[in-house]
Amino acid sequence: MCHLSEELPNASLAALLATGRRRWLASPAAGGETRHVLLPPTERLPGPVVRPYDRQVRPRLLGGVIGLSSRRMRRLRLVLAGAALAACAALVGVAPAVPATAQPPGGRDPAPMNTPQTPSRPAPEAAWVELGPSGAVLARAITKAEACPELTVDKVAARMEVRAAPSPPDYPVRSCEAMLPREAKRVTLAGQQLPLPADRPRRIVVVGDTGCRLKAVDGFQACNDPRAWPFARVAKSIARWHPDLVIQVGDYLYREEPCPQGNTGCQGSPFGQNWATWDADFFTPAAAALRAAPWLFVRGDHELCSRAGPGWFRFLEPRPMPPTCQDLTTPYSVNLAGVRMIVLDTAMASDKPPLDPDPYISQFEALGTMAGSNAWLLAHKPMWGLLPDSSGTSVTVLNPTLQAASDNSLPPNVRLVVTGHIHLAEVLTFAGERPPQIVAGISGTLLLPQITAPLVGMDVAGQRLTTATTLAQHGFFTFVPGPQGWAATIRDVDGKPIAHCQLHGRSTACGQPRR
Ligand SMILES: [Fe+2]
Repeated sequence: MCHLSEELPNASLAALLATGRRRWLASPAAGGETRHVLLPPTERLPGPVVRPYDRQVRPRLLGGVIGLSSRRMRRLRLVLAGAALAACAALVGVAPAVPATAQPPGGRDPAPMNTPQTPSRPAPEAAWVELGPSGAVLARAITKAEACPELTVDKVAARMEVRAAPSPPDYPVRSCEAMLPREAKRVTLAGQQLPLPADRPRRIVVVGDTGCRLKAVDGFQACNDPRAWPFARVAKSIARWHPDLVIQVGDYLYREEPCPQGNTGCQGSPFGQNWATWDADFFTPAAAALRAAPWLFVRGDHELCSRAGPGWFRFLEPRPMPPTCQDLTTPYSVNLAGVRMIVLDTAMASDKPPLDPDPYISQFEALGTMAGSNAWLLAHKPMWGLLPDSSGTSVTVLNPTLQAASDNSLPPNVRLVVTGHIHLAEVLTFAGERPPQIVAGISGTLLLPQITAPLVGMDVAGQRLTTATTLAQHGFFTFVPGPQGWAATIRDVDGKPIAHCQLHGRSTACGQPRR
């Protein structure tokens, strides 16, 4: 047993041991070295020669031997005790214990006085805040520990519930969650401060299709090269932009097949539906942006139950964990004080025949009452996106299932459609009452060819395309409110603007993109 307050370095002990006094116990330690431990007053030395360690006799005994007065002896004891503390801390590799009211390293909050003083748990694998239906603000964490991380809300200990227990070998991690009060001012999870929703979000980021493609039919992306798969760079740029909210419009997991032998670009990558793949494809590269702002997660077709659906429900779906994976969930809305975000799960809306629009008909019918006075429709699959062919010289309009289910008509108060799925940036406006369509599938995975086909004037599911900006470049979108509507900016992986668009009513005007 190491008594931090009374262990001494060897150099300081030499003279004392020479006194012949037996209060010092010399004991062998690891590596053949000898550790010297000054026993505390309450412990007895082994063996029959030991006599009680008496506070009155100890100064006299030691002081008498080395010729010090009682006062100087007290000073010496203080010095030796300090040296002992430092030496023992160095031996065991930890800092000396700090009082509960002291500031921990990193400037984090001190433990509140009414926080249970439980032993520290390992840092979680990931931690974030996400928004859900009915004003829900959720703290989420993923941990390999036996229990969920410690959470404090305004310096009061709060409990995280287990959302999904570990399920080895694919998911050897515990998913934890806690509902946060909207009025919370400061929340820490395992000592790390979490971002909280702004009262009026003014700076919104949209990313989409973030994972690294590993699939023979579609190609193998160089996941190990941040130039080829830049999602981690995008996440750092997002953090530097200081968003109030980050929206991911779906498709998180792309590492579906093993990296081919000899391919150094993706060598060593995990693949398949498991925690290691989720960690590599999303949580680790997204970490900087997860720390920067709350997120709103939209489900993509890569999160179908036959693909990454189990992970979607374990980690990201904001509603309670269903007993089994579901390929279709109901729409919900998130009110952001000024604009209502309607989230539509389009994971199973097929891009090509046979089409089955029936499950979505009632969902589109419900949007009218959900939209309020000003709404955006967030989905993964676009209502009216342009998918280029392999040469970029012609396009197909997606998604026919959603077009059939909605009859190409949205409630008038849905002012914007924001989606992913097509691996391009697109800002499209139409004649008539149709809202603009934005596609933001540019945040990591392999891009599609730049569209070179003439677009303006073409018929898009029954309406004329009036403006079209399309870009084949990795990056993300930002939105800030302006005097007449939202200003949308397409940014490259480093956050540099490459196109500015003013969204005013049902029209947009975009600056010339950089070529
Ligand atoms: Fe997709």
